[in-house]
Amino acid sequence: MKSDIPYEKMLDVELSRGEAHHGSQKYYRCLIILTCLTTVLLILLSLQSLLVPMATSSSSKSSGQQKHLLIRETCTDPCRIALVESIPEGLVFNSSIAHQSIYEAWLNLISGAQTSLDIASFYWTLTNKDTHTQEATADQGQQILQELGQLSGKVSVRIAVDKPSGTKPLDDISFLVASGADVRMVNMRELTTGVLHTKFWIVDKKHVYIGSANMDWRSLTQVKELGAVVYDCSCLAEDLGKIFEAYWFLNQTKTVPAHWPSNYSTLYNKDTPMQLSLNGTDASVYLSSSPPSLCAEGRTSDVQSILSVIADAQQFVYIAVMNYLPTMEFSSHKRYWTDIDDQLRRVAYERRVRVRLLISCWESTNPIMFPFLRSLASLQDKNKLDVQVKIFTVPSDPQQKKIPFARVNHNKYMVTDKVAYIGTSNWSGDYFVNTAGSALVVNQTSAQSTTPTVQEQLQEVFERDWDSQYSTDINHRTNRKVVC
Ligand SMILES: *[C@@H]1O[C@H](CO)[C@@H](O)[C@H](O)[C@H]1NC(C)=O
Ligand SMILES: *[C@@H]1O[C@H](CO)[C@@H](O)[C@H](O)[C@H]1NC(C)=O
Ligand SMILES: *[C@@H]1O[C@H](CO)[C@@H](O)[C@H](O)[C@H]1NC(C)=O
Ligand SMILES: *[C@@H]1O[C@H](CO)[C@@H](O)[C@H](O)[C@H]1NC(C)=O
Ligand SMILES: *[C@@H]1O[C@H](CO)[C@@H](O)[C@H](O)[C@H]1NC(C)=O
Ligand SMILES: *[C@@H]1O[C@H](CO)[C@@H](O)[C@H](O)[C@H]1NC(C)=O
Repeated sequence: MKSDIPYEKMLDVELSRGEAHHGSQKYYRCLIILTCLTTVLLILLSLQSLLVPMATSSSSKSSGQQKHLLIRETCTDPCRIALVESIPEGLVFNSSIAHQSIYEAWLNLISGAQTSLDIASFYWTLTNKDTHTQEATADQGQQILQELGQLSGKVSVRIAVDKPSGTKPLDDISFLVASGADVRMVNMRELTTGVLHTKFWIVDKKHVYIGSANMDWRSLTQVKELGAVVYDCSCLAEDLGKIFEAYWFLNQTKTVPAHWPSNYSTLYNKDTPMQLSLNGTDASVYLSSSPPSLCAEGRTSDVQSILSVIADAQQFVYIAVMNYLPTMEFSSHKRYWTDIDDQLRRVAYERRVRVRLLISCWESTNPIMFPFLRSLASLQDKNKLDVQVKIFTVPSDPQQKKIPFARVNHNKYMVTDKVAYIGTSNWSGDYFVNTAGSALVVNQTSAQSTTPTVQEQLQEVFERDWDSQYSTDINHRTNRKVVC
């Protein structure tokens, strides 16, 4: 049969007929055969190109489905969240808005601990030995240290702490080690040129504390702090545990792994948050971490989380942080770093989102912060732009003034009309590029709740501080010496 004859031979056969009047017919046949062959070839090619992506997409689909299944496996823990605060001695609000103190929350967590306590920390000065003073208000810190010492003899207490530089005191750490705690110093300076600035606790792999307070006696009585405790929430504790394990591991290595092993990965991030119930109300929750090099697969970096929360706001973005700078603070060369600053200006301009920044300062605050803040605060135009900046000042009597590194609003949170973001970082470039920090992001946008959500509670805290006598519009206070 003709169709069995190879192409070239077929041509030969045709040619061998040699008849002139068959010329046009021959040409016509040739065309048909050529067309047929090309079609077959094209079909084969397109089939192949269809099959290959189908093969890859079917495998990615199945792993995507797997992830989806894991995420939809909602956390059934009866999680409860509570805001906790340190209000410095002598600071009195004319307001009924109040939360449990961080001191009480820590005491409760310690006394309830059955099996384990993991603490990520920047430095330890819970007694007032560092200031060589006899401060009565150091009592609470000293008590926490004593209780931690006792606990260290009973349950597993692991402490990850930034490797202290020459000047940082070691007394508390030595005491805890002697009491039975397992301490690992993380040399962030060597690893990422940053510091371990994170502050969180994980108790019995089911309760967590995260917030601005350092392991410092001043953080309980002399510095204004804000944090959150989440109780009975092993899903969240397990995820925070992965961030802790990363710090723990960094003590055993000379370099940050280029790829973290898969057991450090998470399924919970800004795109696929954990679904859980907080005080009986549905919530989407995730933990972010910085710097990006410490984020295993799936983890949202702290700055990405902040940018997405700001981008998501419809009505307002309220920010309370100690430091706000669109620059790197500690790099050897001056570097401008505007990721967050750009985002705030963008939502203020494009969507008329109301932006409020409540900033604090002390003697060691970089004076360049003020012109940058005034630049932001100048974005004011009736019905078009609404950005406002206030400076929060913690009042001090002459005795309190003498306490170094105190009497300041050290909060590090943001609240929008939808989301509560509770972090551990100052807001300047370094904290997102090379310093370790982390944050809890709670979204209850779609929740139907009769009791106030944590977003609403955080908004109340912000408004209490913003409207208080301790906050002053930055435009009315220009000189840092007068402000701080
Ligand atoms: C405290 O707040 C109430 C109600 O907002 C107000 O009437 C009162 O004047 C305030 N007191 C002071 C001392 O600011
Ligand atoms: C790990 O931690 C121990 C105990 O705190 C410390 O002595 C050691 O220097 C740390 N190692 C590194 C590489 O940071
Ligand atoms: C991952 O596995 C290693 C080796 O078993 C272990 O040392 C590490 O703690 C694990 N990390 C996490 C986050 O569980
Ligand atoms: C909060 O959740 C809603 C859906 O419930 C989602 O549309 C929104 O993007 C989330 N916001 C953030 C900042 O994750
Ligand atoms: C936040 O910034 C201040 C001022 O630069 C700095 O002293 C402090 O160490 C930073 N963070 C802390 C202690 O949380
Ligand atoms: C959740 O419940 C705890 C007490 O169990 C309470 O302290 C806290 O304020 C509640 N949180 C919210 C957001 O209602």
